[in-house]
Amino acid sequence: MKPRVVVTREVFDETIDFLAQHCEVDANQADAAHTPDALAQKLADKDGVMCALTDRIDAALIARCPRLKAVANIAVGYNNIDVAACSARNIRVTNTPGVLDDSTADLAWALMLATARRVTEVESYIRKGEWTGWRLKQWLGTDVHHATLGIIGMGRIGQAIAKRALGFDMKVLYHNRKPLAAAIERRLNATYVSLDDVLTQSDFVVLQMPYSPETHHLIDAVQLGKMKPTAILINSTRGGVVDDAALIEALKTGVIRAAGLDVFEGEPKLNPGFLELKNVVLVPHIGSSTEATRRAMAMTAATNLVAALSGKKPPNLVNP
Ligand code: DGY
Repeated sequence: MKPRVVVTREVFDETIDFLAQHCEVDANQADAAHTPDALAQKLADKDGVMCALTDRIDAALIARCPRLKAVANIAVGYNNIDVAACSARNIRVTNTPGVLDDSTADLAWALMLATARRVTEVESYIRKGEWTGWRLKQWLGTDVHHATLGIIGMGRIGQAIAKRALGFDMKVLYHNRKPLAAAIERRLNATYVSLDDVLTQSDFVVLQMPYSPETHHLIDAVQLGKMKPTAILINSTRGGVVDDAALIEALKTGVIRAAGLDVFEGEPKLNPGFLELKNVVLVPHIGSSTEATRRAMAMTAATNLVAALSGKKPPNLVNP
């Protein structure tokens, strides 16, 4: 008997084909949204689930899924899953590290460059037909090259962001749970400093730490107040690490110059305050969204799920 699995949202056909070689698959290629209750009903008689970061796999759901043995998240972040509750039931949890580092770093850089050079603001101006000619003091932006980049969260993606800064001759400061090995610091030309030093000294502050109760609202009004008034904040990790209401106030009142955001508290709902601001670049959680990377993420999750259900150690096991 093949194990029975649910794939909660649409994935690539090749992912379903691969899973179908090993499992009985309940797919959702129509990408129909489901309520937590509908998901629990679907999973009640299943052995595994391949889920998205928008699915909450919490203790209440797990209690309704007596057969569940594996949860494969199609994301590197797994704050949507109660790992402790899964571990208590011996359910294996996996994620997709590695395959999305470069794409996510590219997007963080896209946000840095777009905010610094006001790309979305001027694009809208030119599309409205308002451009009447070149002027010396028109649309002045901020230089990225030779500026100081501060990265909070120096895991794989943070390091990929730092690597790109070498080409822009930037000074790189970082804060992390612990410092990197000296050889990596040398290769990235990056210096470990306190959180306060990142905030007070950087021209660009990029957030790349995982979301958890400890990092909830790590960037609030007090921390924003420590940043330079000319500084730009980039959030390419998770909504919730920033207090969005405090950020809107800081952007409105000139506490910082601008922000580039891929993620939001309570997304896909957006604090409407963002929409009134010109000094913020908003994109809808697309950090890893290139064709090649999303295919790789889905296949990584499928490989993890099959391994977990065949009793092997999955390549990307998250449970301690
Ligand atoms: C992740 O993998 O955690 C990303 O946020 C998905 O884009």
